[in-house]
Amino acid sequence: MADQPFLTDIKTIRERARRHIEQGAVTEGYTADRENVIRLLNEALATEIVCTLRYKRHYYMAEGLSASVAQAEFLEHAQQEQQHADWLAERIVQLGGEPNFSPEGLMTRAHAEYTEGDSLRDMIKEDLVAERIAVDSYREIATYLGDKDPTSRRLMEDILAQEEEHADDMAGLLDGLDAQGR
Ligand SMILES: [Fe+2]
Ligand SMILES: [Fe+2]
Repeated sequence: MADQPFLTDIKTIRERARRHIEQGAVTEGYTADRENVIRLLNEALATEIVCTLRYKRHYYMAEGLSASVAQAEFLEHAQQEQQHADWLAERIVQLGGEPNFSPEGLMTRAHAEYTEGDSLRDMIKEDLVAERIAVDSYREIATYLGDKDPTSRRLMEDILAQEEEHADDMAGLLDGLDAQGR
């Protein structure tokens, strides 16, 4: 056993893999608190659903404000938030959990708000606020996951990177409005 190349020998790994075969992707080497990870991913999922709905609302309302640049951004973001929701749901299932798509309690689970906004400026501001909240809470989740669940952490980091882009896009739109004196 002295010249064992890995921390855990292959035989032990194989035995462990067989023992709880029904747990799918979750092996005994998974050291995270699975229930808690699933809960956090469900909160992120709720956040993404709320963000999708908010951007959709803003997309359709921007039509009447003849704001085509903002409108294109709203639509793109709505689609990306939807994609994030799908990635999260997929990971929750891999972990043996159930993705919570229930409208009931959605706002309580979500870390972002659904704010309609009256003017184009209000909409963009609300989106920027929501993105900044998502950035902070996703960063915290990624840090919490650390080395205990690298796959979920990577997923959260990928989403986080896009939320930072979203925030940057919204800040850019606000600057554009200022420049036009709108
Ligand atoms: Fe997102
Ligand atoms: Fe976003």
